[in-house]
Amino acid sequence: LLTSAAFIAFGASAAMAQTVGFSQIGSESGWRAAETTLTKQQAEERGIDLKFSDAQQKQENQIAAIRSFIAQGVDAILLAPVVATGWDSVLEEAKEAEIPVVLLDRQVDSDKSLYLTAVGSDLVHEGEVAGQWLVDAVDGAECRVVELQGTTGSSPAIDRKTGFEKGIAGADNIEIVRSQTGDFTRAQGKEVMESFLQAEGGGADICALYAHNDDMAVGAIQAIKEAGLKPGEDILIVSIDAVPDIFQAMAAGEANATVELTPNMAGPAFDALKAYMADGTEPAKFIQTESKLYTQDDDPAGEYERRKDLGY
Ligand code: AHR
Repeated sequence: LLTSAAFIAFGASAAMAQTVGFSQIGSESGWRAAETTLTKQQAEERGIDLKFSDAQQKQENQIAAIRSFIAQGVDAILLAPVVATGWDSVLEEAKEAEIPVVLLDRQVDSDKSLYLTAVGSDLVHEGEVAGQWLVDAVDGAECRVVELQGTTGSSPAIDRKTGFEKGIAGADNIEIVRSQTGDFTRAQGKEVMESFLQAEGGGADICALYAHNDDMAVGAIQAIKEAGLKPGEDILIVSIDAVPDIFQAMAAGEANATVELTPNMAGPAFDALKAYMADGTEPAKFIQTESKLYTQDDDPAGEYERRKDLGY
């Protein structure tokens, strides 16, 4: 991607501060807010001038932001892509301009040569861990599951669905009876859960909720309570992210399990860019972050305390 003349001591000191454009998806979830906060913090600590753009969930805004970063001649671009498809042209433009692009937390369907590296978790594995947790939790009992999917066309929505189905494969007692997008937001999680409850005997026919993120689960918990049921008991709840609010719900017995997604994607991204721009060290195409399962047995109240001031 980079010519040798462009090798520089990336973020080495404030005097040599480099400029990085960050095209963020929006602020749809607590996890997203934490990723934004941590990216800004990481940039500041490294003396990097971060140009931040909030796309408000729209791919066209992200494409416009990337074009503007290219026109400004930034040294690198961080992109958290809202959906997986439709990036080829703009990534080619960045490559043409010799500006390395690092993907954060979501994947694209484009050729791998169009970006330097991607920092993220194994999204299929996250879903699989959630599915396996449910298999163990119901221990052979019949279980009708409702699923709240993330943003349609986004890699976490696609992969977390695939992963969960993999996790429950072979457990004939578990069936996904309804599945709909809640766009990763608390408000839509609540709204869609209300329709699931209505369609499933007021909730009596639902054994578990699988939500592709914690925010949708938190919205759904509210809907379940308003329907007169006990979330975490009448309806088991498993989701993904590990944000403080889900630990609070777990501590209150209203949610059962979550799979952690670290919001610090920028640290490894800046490290990779620094090495690449110093001497051309090519990072691995995928820098994987950890996915850890937390249940009610893992001190949820303590986890809440540990995370509550981290920018979520
Ligand atoms: O891409 C990561 C997902 O996006 C997070 O799980 C979700 O909370 C966010 O909106």
